[in-house]
Parts: sequence; structure tokens; C-alpha cells
Amino acid sequence: MCMFCSNFAACLTAAQQLKGGQEDPCKTKSRVVGDEVYCDRYWECVNNQPELYDCPNGLVFAGKRHGVTEGCDYPWRSNYCEGKQLANGPISTEHCDWLYGIFGHETSCTRYWTCWNGTATEQLCGGGLLYNEDTHSCDWPENVEGCQKHPLCNDDPNGNVPLGKSCNRYWQCQGGYPRLQRCPAQLVFDRHSLRCVVPPTEECDIPVAPPVDGELPNKEGLLSKDEQEQQLADNAVPPFPLQGKNFQRSKN
Ligand SMILES: *[C@@H]1O[C@H](CO)[C@@H](O)[C@H](O)[C@H]1NC(C)=O
Repeated sequence: MCMFCSNFAACLTAAQQLKGGQEDPCKTKSRVVGDEVYCDRYWECVNNQPELYDCPNGLVFAGKRHGVTEGCDYPWRSNYCEGKQLANGPISTEHCDWLYGIFGHETSCTRYWTCWNGTATEQLCGGGLLYNEDTHSCDWPENVEGCQKHPLCNDDPNGNVPLGKSCNRYWQCQGGYPRLQRCPAQLVFDRHSLRCVVPPTEECDIPVAPPVDGELPNKEGLLSKDEQEQQLADNAVPPFPLQGKNFQRSKN
């Protein structure tokens, strides 16, 4: 049986034979060449011997000093695997189809996972963008199949929707996509007329400014996870946060 070196463990095996048209890394300047057959493997010249290495699980060989780590990259970033095969299958962990990669969220169109060595980090698409599984990046809603609309806005794609029992916050649907809104000061959201109105209403008293000493924080002051997500989405600026290398560091 053939033992292959993991990228991270320096292991010395019997020198592998270079077969067929495989280029010898020891005869190249970079000392590293991609495998002829498998796009997730490469040869490196170690002690003047060609050694075969696997890319980290989920990545494919891109070239020395290219890709996201160890000369390996996300397969969808280029045509790395054109005419080649994968030697390794996926190793999956929670939220990660492969140990390394970028994957869709199970329940949210605005969230996705970046996986680094099997550890998933939740990410958010900002500025009203949604995660596009095809491009592995945040994209305009009209480009993201199945995620254009939020069920909150099913009744009226441009209507207002109460946010829980909140008296001053509500969802405003814009073309089926909900945005978190707050009634102007002194007004409260009326869940019957779906508008901001002068209080009191059946459910909402006249808002009182700063919480009284010793009282628990007003429920309005605490944001639910969904509200936080929406706020983050509204406040974030970069349209394509996955471009470039900035997501590499999400591991830490
Ligand atoms: C990846 O995770 C495994 C097990 O969790 C660990 O043994 C290994 O050192 C990690 N590799 C890297 C490159 O962080």
C-alpha cells in the first residue's frame, strides 16, 4: 500500500516513482509541481527526492505560493481540475462538507460557513446580499435561486410585519426581502394597521425614555439573533466579502 504524506506531517516514505508524463519537481525551479492525474496532489522536491503530497482536504493544487494554504486552493476558484481527477473524498465535520471550504448555511440565506481544517465559522453576507452556493460568495438576491424571498414577506412583498411583541421595531418588506425598521421617536408600531402610530395602542403604551435605575433592561433594548443578523446585514458595506484573501483568517 502506498503511503502519502500529509501536508502537515513531515513523513518520509520510500521515494515515489515518477510515472508517465509526470514532471520531476527536482528539475524545476519552484521544486513543486502538480500531479499529472490528480488535482488534489502535488510533488515536492525534498532532499533531492520527489515526494507526493495531498492538499488539505477540500483543496486542490494551485501552485507554489498560490491558493489559500500550502499552495492549495478552493477548487471552484479556477479550472484546476480540468482533465484531472480527485484522489481524495470528502472528510466532513459539522457544517463542513470538506475540512476546508465555504459552504451554505442550513437554515439561512444570509449566512454561510467557512471551514478551516474542519472547524466551521459562521459568516454573514452584508448589505442585503445573499449567499450564492454556485459562486461561494455573497450575491444580489436576484442571482440566488430559491433565496430571493423571505417567508416573513409572503403575505405582502412590500408590506410591514410586526417583530414579535416589539412596540417600536418592525420588518419592512422590500420586494419580498425584510429589513429591520424602527418607528420614529414617540411613535409605536401598531400590529393592526401595520404602521407607526401615536400611542397608546392596545398593546403599546407611550414609550418612556431611559430605563429606570435598577430595572432590568427593557426588552426593546435586547436584539434577537435575527435582529442582530439584519442589523449586521444593513450596516455592512463590502459587497463581496469573499473576494481576496480576507476570509482565510476567519479560522482564528
Ligand atoms: C487539523 O485538525 C487536526 C485534528 O483536529 C489536528 O490534529 C491537526 O494538527 C490540524 N491541522 C492543522 C493544519 O491545523
